[in-house]
Amino acid sequence: MFNTPFLDLPPLQSAAGTVRLPGSKSISNRVLLLAGLSEGHTLVHDLLDSDDTRVMLQALRQLGCAVEPQGSAGTTWRIGGIGGRLSTREARLFLGNAGTAMRPLTAALAVLAATQGGTFQLSGIARMHERPIGDLVDALRQLGCPIDYLGNEGFPPLRLRATTSPLDTAAPIRVRGDVSSQFLTALLLALPLVTTHRDVVIEVEGELISKPYVEITLNLLARFGIAVARDGWRRFTLPQGSAYRSPGEIHVEGDASSASYFIALGALAATEAPVRIEGVGSDSIQGDIRFVDAAQAMGASVTTGPGWLEVRRGSFALRSITLDCNHIPDAAMTLAVMALYAQGTTRLTNIASWRVKETDRIAAMRDELRKLGAQVDSGDDFIAITPPRSWRPASIATYDDHRIAMCFALAAFNPDRQPVRVLDPQCVAKTFPDYFEALFGLVQTPLACIPVITVDGPTASGKGTLASAIARRLGYHFLDSGAVYRATALVAMRKSVAADDGDALGRIAAGLDLHFIGGDAHLGDENVAEALRAEDVGAMASRVSAWPQVREALRQLQLSFRRVPGLVADGRDMGTVIFPGANLKVFLTASVATRAERRHKQLISKGIPANIATLRTELEARDARDQNRSVSPLEPAQDAMLLDNSALTVDASMEQVLNAWEQRRPFAAAAAAKG
Ligand code: DC
Repeated sequence: MFNTPFLDLPPLQSAAGTVRLPGSKSISNRVLLLAGLSEGHTLVHDLLDSDDTRVMLQALRQLGCAVEPQGSAGTTWRIGGIGGRLSTREARLFLGNAGTAMRPLTAALAVLAATQGGTFQLSGIARMHERPIGDLVDALRQLGCPIDYLGNEGFPPLRLRATTSPLDTAAPIRVRGDVSSQFLTALLLALPLVTTHRDVVIEVEGELISKPYVEITLNLLARFGIAVARDGWRRFTLPQGSAYRSPGEIHVEGDASSASYFIALGALAATEAPVRIEGVGSDSIQGDIRFVDAAQAMGASVTTGPGWLEVRRGSFALRSITLDCNHIPDAAMTLAVMALYAQGTTRLTNIASWRVKETDRIAAMRDELRKLGAQVDSGDDFIAITPPRSWRPASIATYDDHRIAMCFALAAFNPDRQPVRVLDPQCVAKTFPDYFEALFGLVQTPLACIPVITVDGPTASGKGTLASAIARRLGYHFLDSGAVYRATALVAMRKSVAADDGDALGRIAAGLDLHFIGGDAHLGDENVAEALRAEDVGAMASRVSAWPQVREALRQLQLSFRRVPGLVADGRDMGTVIFPGANLKVFLTASVATRAERRHKQLISKGIPANIATLRTELEARDARDQNRSVSPLEPAQDAMLLDNSALTVDASMEQVLNAWEQRRPFAAAAAAKG
């Protein structure tokens, strides 16, 4: 996951390959609640591992359900249900910003607290306390459930209490269906609990929106033994004596809303080979699968089968459309970004529910699409988008809304080759923690589009520490080129090849089976991270690296680190020889005395005896060798930023480099021009 203040996407060109989708959020949290209410155990496979499911799992734990992870992937769980009987009568549940946890838990715990006795408090983050729940509370109060608003009337946080009078299930329970279908879903999931004496009827007032989500609910209730009778979309009957029965085992489908980004990706950029999406397909029970029809209408070429989709670019530029999006409210946001690549104006209508989601999505989409240069018109229940005449580099605010972050990443395919900055990219954790990794695994772009920052400097100048810290902050890849030479040296030492045998060393370098896993260097199956740091290996590396045969053989390996979204590379010749076109070059120095001291501290902390004076002499010898060799000597690139960090902390050095980087990025200038 990218846990950085922002993520800059370089201009992207094409896409191909296979993505496996994480589990559906809507299905995951419904299944968890049903499993939690059932008698006995349910083994849940392919559960979404995200913020929203984590709060639901935690809530179930607090309510006394047995919640056990199976395996280490975080996607298989064994849930022991409470069988409809409260085992814990008091709890405070924190539900983050998960509407799919707040609504159904409110309904289930309201009737359980009322009928069996108990007090439950449900709260979330600030935005959750701005998301309406009054219609659901009103419906539950008709039954006789005592519910208090602890903050603002109509919004969480809530307290659910006991009552001594029996619940009134004789009259139909009326609920509004035109604000959010989650209220109806919540009642459908919870009211089987009160069917002991008679059928329970729910009547929907107003036009029911997002019907496909209600279909998911009915589908899953059936899997848990509850057959709801439905009269159109107005009247739902839960038969007397309904009881949750665990299916034993259940698989969660891939998330169809998440599929929309990759369907769009295929439509925009799969020019050579298709984008294949695994986890949802023609047999999906999720309404958002109908995004496929909309994408096809805009020009996507789609083939599908059970559990998979393949998408290619069909007609391009895309065709603009006018579409009632009531049936695909979440995936419709992806259409808004596809509209940037269409001819003419795309109009998405009947999307009023966008205003009560993670953020006011109509306002958010309008403001952010405009930053890219699009013309946007919007109202209470529609948005209309006309593509930019010329694209602007934009810094996209994401409002703690995963879908905004995910759909705006697709703006990086713009024909004007403008990069796109996504602020707070970690918000995708709500439904798709590895979204950007998955996206980057499918895209290609010319190397020249991928930014590179180089940090060169003498041994022990702190360039490795600085470069890796910058890479982490920017979410970029990191190349420690010294490790490449050290690995060659290590193999040479193990094979007793002498430092003066250039040809043999060149052959070793060419055959090096070196790769990096989680930042650690591996030679074949062996983790050599520690071995490479040995002083004698460093000294040998300094000799080995003087041979042109070696440098040439290692060149391609180093170049291959330049991958989307960007690279920070440290070494001696990163800015001069390997990446002469780098976007920012830093030459880091520190006095010999400072460097000897730092190295001394490092060695002592590892329990290796060392002497400052000897270290200093060795450093000077190493500097001389690195600076005076005939190939790629250590020297600053002409356009390098010189930074002496003798008196600077790592953080202070990093701030200086990041400031220099920011000045070279187009985003600040664009923001200033706009303001
Ligand atoms: O940065 P380091 O100490 O890990 O590097 C080990 C040796 O490798 C160093 O003495 C010189 C050589 N090297 C090089 O010649 N070019 C690079 N880009 C990186 C390291």
